[in-house]
Amino acid sequence: MSNNQHTLPAGWRESVAHRIILKGGRLFHPGSELDQIADLAIQDGCIKHIGSIPSDFQGETVNCEGLLITPGLYDMHVHLREPGFEHKETVRTGCSAAAAGGFTGIACMPNTNPSTDNPGIVEFIRNQAKGLPVDVDPIAATTKGRKGETLTEMSELAATGVTAFSDDGSPIASADLMRRALEYTNMLGALLIEHCEEPTMTVGSIMHEGAVSTRLGLTGWPAVAEEIAIERNIQLAEYTGARLHCAHVSTARGVELIRNAKKRGVRVTGEATPHHVSLECSILEHYDSEYKVNPPLRESKDIEALIAGLADGTIDAIATDHAPHAHDEKEVELALAPFGMVGLETAFGVILTELVNTGRISLARAIDAMSTQPRRLMSLPDVSLEVGSEANLSIMDLNEQWTVERDTLNSKSHNTPFHGWKLTGRARGIYNNSKYWGRK
Ligand code: DOR
Repeated sequence: MSNNQHTLPAGWRESVAHRIILKGGRLFHPGSELDQIADLAIQDGCIKHIGSIPSDFQGETVNCEGLLITPGLYDMHVHLREPGFEHKETVRTGCSAAAAGGFTGIACMPNTNPSTDNPGIVEFIRNQAKGLPVDVDPIAATTKGRKGETLTEMSELAATGVTAFSDDGSPIASADLMRRALEYTNMLGALLIEHCEEPTMTVGSIMHEGAVSTRLGLTGWPAVAEEIAIERNIQLAEYTGARLHCAHVSTARGVELIRNAKKRGVRVTGEATPHHVSLECSILEHYDSEYKVNPPLRESKDIEALIAGLADGTIDAIATDHAPHAHDEKEVELALAPFGMVGLETAFGVILTELVNTGRISLARAIDAMSTQPRRLMSLPDVSLEVGSEANLSIMDLNEQWTVERDTLNSKSHNTPFHGWKLTGRARGIYNNSKYWGRK
């Protein structure tokens, strides 16, 4: 089997035609107020014509009538599991899932084995992704082995093109080390992405602490454990002047802290996941480990605050925290199961169905939070839908209704909390790096 058969999403095809015409799509770029139905012609990876296509421009035509064409979606929080945990996901299977979800770029977290704490692993991951229409940007570990003890050789890592550092999966417990990490990332112009958790308060925690955890007899994970960490890290970002990004914000007060800090001019940003804006902690009543995630699913007031934060831009980006785990690892008693859920293939459908189609955030904000903002946070160049620009596009069907079936996911792991959900909105194709991948 060729590599492509391994990596193309099921039912998709690849085209490397020099000239492609995306016909009749709705070109939508919130940043430039572009919203227009027009043909778009690509030649050798660049947008050559928009609107009327000269008759001598012959190429492969992809019918995009009724479809939305946006700047390539970007997920800044993905766990690819390679090297070390290839039974859960590889770079290639993760990219297949990303493409199926409409993403043309992803940033992958360093909690691999060995961890991405040196330039060799960064290069290895980049090599694994070579030739794909999905860009993979490794995020380097903040501390050696992600142990929270000694900083990595950050300038060496930045010299390889790494633009963000994180120990995600674990917080940096020491305030002093966090301060030093922020000083270094600031000097390097990089982003520090922090998993905000006060670890002494979450030992043995399984789910959000509240009435439901008490009733179920499950060890609680207090919201304040996240909020203390966000508060401390904001203070350190303010003190050092560095750029701090709070990963997977899950609590109402967390959103409020970020909102207030932004007003003071602190360089802090935040992301929310599709699962934290759509699932409540009460779903743990089923004792189903598919819903076990770090940070945990919270209460309706938290969901409302996250959505309001997304709507007003306090929460800059939507990121999946795609965390694949094998079936036999998840199918154990709740206390032993690992934290995490896959999200790449359901993200767009969940956001469209739950937030956009219900009028809680606009389509423009959703696309902005899933493309332009995360790319900016990762210091990547803006993507534009203009003649002469490099073509980096997602082709999305806003009307397709589909049911999530865990066994048909392209990810190597199928641990989705959305199995059986009826969603509206799904990717039909992507174009990036001079390649088109799309549904047959
Ligand atoms: O639920 C989670 N799973 N949260 C994290 O922060 C890490 C992730 C993983 O790597 O499995």
